[in-house]
Amino acid sequence: MNAPIYMQEQPNGVTRRKFIKGVIAAGAAVSASAYLFRGPEQLFGQGSLPGAVERLMTLTVNGQQRRVDVMKQETLAMTLRYKLGLTGTKLGCDRSECGACTVLIDDVPHYSCSILTHTVRGKKVTSIEGLESPDGTLHPVQQAVVDEQGFQCAFCMPGFVMSTVGFLKTNPNPTPEQLAHGISGNLCRCMDYNKILTAMMRGAENMRRA
Ligand code: FES
Ligand code: FES
Repeated sequence: MNAPIYMQEQPNGVTRRKFIKGVIAAGAAVSASAYLFRGPEQLFGQGSLPGAVERLMTLTVNGQQRRVDVMKQETLAMTLRYKLGLTGTKLGCDRSECGACTVLIDDVPHYSCSILTHTVRGKKVTSIEGLESPDGTLHPVQQAVVDEQGFQCAFCMPGFVMSTVGFLKTNPNPTPEQLAHGISGNLCRCMDYNKILTAMMRGAENMRRA
């Protein structure tokens, strides 16, 4: 019997499962063209404002001290993506509606598109890149995404994973209804919420076993 499609080796020697695993570790995902063609100049906008002055500050991101020049009106999502190169954090709506930009601040999920970077000074910021172990072992929730193949395009995946990881810190053994409610601030344009919830519930199970 043939192996499932995601296990089959492609002509370039990469299985779909291996490819997705790499994508999930970095939080990389397929992007909409409108998103792809927006550069930091358009996204920041503020750069052209008179008086937009950057100040050097130190952030604690994924367990590391990062020195970065930040404008006073700069959002954390912008700093993570365009100053620190942590592009696993996605920008969907950029106005607190979709949850694609979710990161943990002191272990609590927040929309990084709506947090000014200077307000997280002295706090612990965790993005999707900070979940895996130093040896490359995926976080149990990331592993569940691989195992369940829970997302279609996966643009929303980093946000869902970060929201789930944050929620499980407060309720490690949720019912599906509780978890669905806990991550209801995240939206998926592909609309496959049942598969996403199944993957996230498996992540909860993986965490209890870990
Ligand atoms: S990009 Fe932040 S909530 Fe949509
Ligand atoms: S936006 Fe495509 S899987 Fe969620």
